Amino acid sequence: MSSIATPLKFVPSGKALGVDVIGLDISKGISDEDFQQIVDAWYEHLVLRFRGQSINDKHLVDFALRFGQVHHAAGAEYGGKPENLHEAVELVSNIEKDGKPIGALGAGEATWHTDMSMYEIPATATLLYGDEIPPSGGNTRFTNLCDAYDLLDPELKKLVEGRRSIHDAAYLATGGVRPGYEALTDKSKGPGARHPIVRTHPYSGRKALYLGRMGFGYIEGLSVEESDRVLDALWAHMTQPRFIWEQEWKAGDLIVWDNRCVAHARGAFDPKSRRLLRRVTVMDT
Ligand code: OGA
Ligand code: MN
Repeated sequence: MSSIATPLKFVPSGKALGVDVIGLDISKGISDEDFQQIVDAWYEHLVLRFRGQSINDKHLVDFALRFGQVHHAAGAEYGGKPENLHEAVELVSNIEKDGKPIGALGAGEATWHTDMSMYEIPATATLLYGDEIPPSGGNTRFTNLCDAYDLLDPELKKLVEGRRSIHDAAYLATGGVRPGYEALTDKSKGPGARHPIVRTHPYSGRKALYLGRMGFGYIEGLSVEESDRVLDALWAHMTQPRFIWEQEWKAGDLIVWDNRCVAHARGAFDPKSRRLLRRVTVMDT
């Protein structure tokens, strides 16, 4: 791999987050100098987009490994991963084979969430690469939770400071009960990791709001009713258009987002069209 820096261009989306990285062929590997520039842009803009890439599983996993340890996903949510798939790669797809989905999330809407925060050690980065994209729909929206923290109503800021919430594990982002779990009767006793609602990004030093999934979760120390009220107010604040950038997918797009300071949601699309993306998740270490 060359150690000579490529003249990379960074073009911000002009919205609250998101930047296009231009001038890089990820299949050729990335020099340390280039990677440093990419990481700096990531910490500033929170979501990276690389268009026009043509990459196999190994290219994708090798790139993910530059960000940290990769998660080996079992794909239990949709009945197991197809054989022959790289152990660190998952499919996000509505395509079925032999009557069984080959990937996660189907064709419906996926509500606002941050990846894998129901675990003690949540995901830092998610890499998502578009192989097949429907003609319309299925856009992914991202919201900047550092800006959302900075501009949070002072009363709410005071209320959540130092508090933790349960990042519910019982439900999927598509709304159904996660295989192996039961429907919740008492949110305050639900399964899922407890994380501080305000977290400080280890590199940028910025504070960010950190919640699992819109419509779920519970703030410790409050009544369930009060917790619901505060969580609804937080999500309503966090998902205002001024904090959002929307990715309109093209095949060959690779997106890298930072789950420590970004939440995302996916729009529905025509279930008769095919959508296939490959995903690798990087874990906190
Ligand atoms: C995910 C996810 C969104 C999409 O893979 O974690 O939320 O656009 N995907 O498919
Ligand atoms: Mn997700």
